[in-house]
Amino acid sequence: MDLHVVILAAGKGTRMKSARAKVLHRVAGQPLIERVLARAAALDPRSTTLVIGHQADTLRHALSRHRGLTFVVQEPQLGTAHALLTTESALGTAAGTLVLLSGDVPLLSVDTLRKLVDRHTSTAAAATVVTAVVGEPRGYGRVVRSGERIARIVEDKDATSAEREIREINSGIYAFSLEGLFDAVRSVASANAQREYYLPDLVAVYRQRGLGVETVTVSNPDEIRGINSRIELAAVSRIVRDQKTAELMAAGVTIEDPPTAYIDGDVKVGADTVIHPGVALEGRTTIGAGCEIHSGVRIVDSQIGDRVTIFNHCVITNARVADDVKVGPFAHLRNEADVRAGARVGNFVELKKTVLGAGSKSMHLAYLGDATIGEKVNIGAGTITCNYDGVTKNQTVIEDGAFVGSDSQLIAPVTVGKGAYVGSGTTVRQDVPPGALAVSAGKQRNIEHWVEKKAKSEGQKAKVD
Ligand code: UD1
Ligand code: CA
Repeated sequence: MDLHVVILAAGKGTRMKSARAKVLHRVAGQPLIERVLARAAALDPRSTTLVIGHQADTLRHALSRHRGLTFVVQEPQLGTAHALLTTESALGTAAGTLVLLSGDVPLLSVDTLRKLVDRHTSTAAAATVVTAVVGEPRGYGRVVRSGERIARIVEDKDATSAEREIREINSGIYAFSLEGLFDAVRSVASANAQREYYLPDLVAVYRQRGLGVETVTVSNPDEIRGINSRIELAAVSRIVRDQKTAELMAAGVTIEDPPTAYIDGDVKVGADTVIHPGVALEGRTTIGAGCEIHSGVRIVDSQIGDRVTIFNHCVITNARVADDVKVGPFAHLRNEADVRAGARVGNFVELKKTVLGAGSKSMHLAYLGDATIGEKVNIGAGTITCNYDGVTKNQTVIEDGAFVGSDSQLIAPVTVGKGAYVGSGTTVRQDVPPGALAVSAGKQRNIEHWVEKKAKSEGQKAKVD
């Protein structure tokens, strides 16, 4: 069967009060339009056409990775019927079924879409409308039935007060038979409250012509929620997040306070991991089993092993953390930081493009950038890899078992050999051979009675006690 998809996304989204195109706003971390495109792809259609208008170039750019997507520009935007008409030349002589999706309805299930196509084709209808019965129908088009059959759809703004009582609404998702579709859409008028060409008016047109119009009513009305405002955006994000936390809990993850867990759809978490309140797990992040993620942690596009503890308020982006590691509180792992098994990263430690070898420790106040640190290395408090010379980033190598004393600076490129010691307060400018001790601080000198002498010279009593 020939199946084509058209997605409407040209509208300005006035009610969002945004400079950004509405369909690029994110629901639980993912742009609305990406969700709709994923559902369209699940139908494996012959073609997918996106109607764009408002911010057309931004959208085209944002979606450039989607191959085989046809963009059609609707300018000006005169309503949903007018939007569909602009796809006429793109669809050419295509026959079969057209599934029309709305770019701002991101929760529709693929299951419902399949039901829509099945009902539409099995009844040989001219049009099939996805509807829902909702508690609060305000803002949506209402489904007016005569007897069992759908007679027409009336928009909220055009409805009589009796029609506004109807709780069955139009989802804005339809299947149409392509035969004669565009001619019929052309006959839709704009004599309504918004002076727009309404696609739902096609229902009445078809019914008057005696053509078949069917409906598919979703059992979960959340599926067809459209997003027109920031409040609806937040509400739909909430639904997606609740689904995600429910899924994870069912799979054996403890989430102490689900409403404050911000876990994106693609994130994977192993069993018996405990997620404390206020944790954000984003993008392509995986967390192993038996981990403990404390409050205020944000992890983006990172891989965390098993039995890892991340203490409060760590930020981890694009990093790897192996099994049995402890990180934080207040640590920052970024840009290819790679913490190996059993290592320990403490508070106010930043790692960038750095391997911290198995069993190594950096417990307090350090910057480790562009460094390869071996196994069982101790990095003292206040250690800094001086990786940038103003022109290029240089590498620091610290070999297995080395001990770097507190407040040391390692001026890269430099190597600290196996088992070597760097004395506290050392500025390491040359390689340290294996087993050596490097010290650079001058010899300490104590000036006796200095405070007393100073006070005397200023004519005051010494404050020594
Ligand atoms: C629409 C339906 C309404 C339905 C609701 C479901 C119409 C007239 N009304 O109302 O019956 O209950 O969806 O969510 O269709 N668009 C264009 N070009 C335009 C106008 C809109 O591409 O000229 C796009 C928008 O970007 C959006 C979609 O079509 O993605 C729906 O338009 P919107 O203005 O949000 O329609 P609603 O008022 O929500
Ligand atoms: Ca809408």
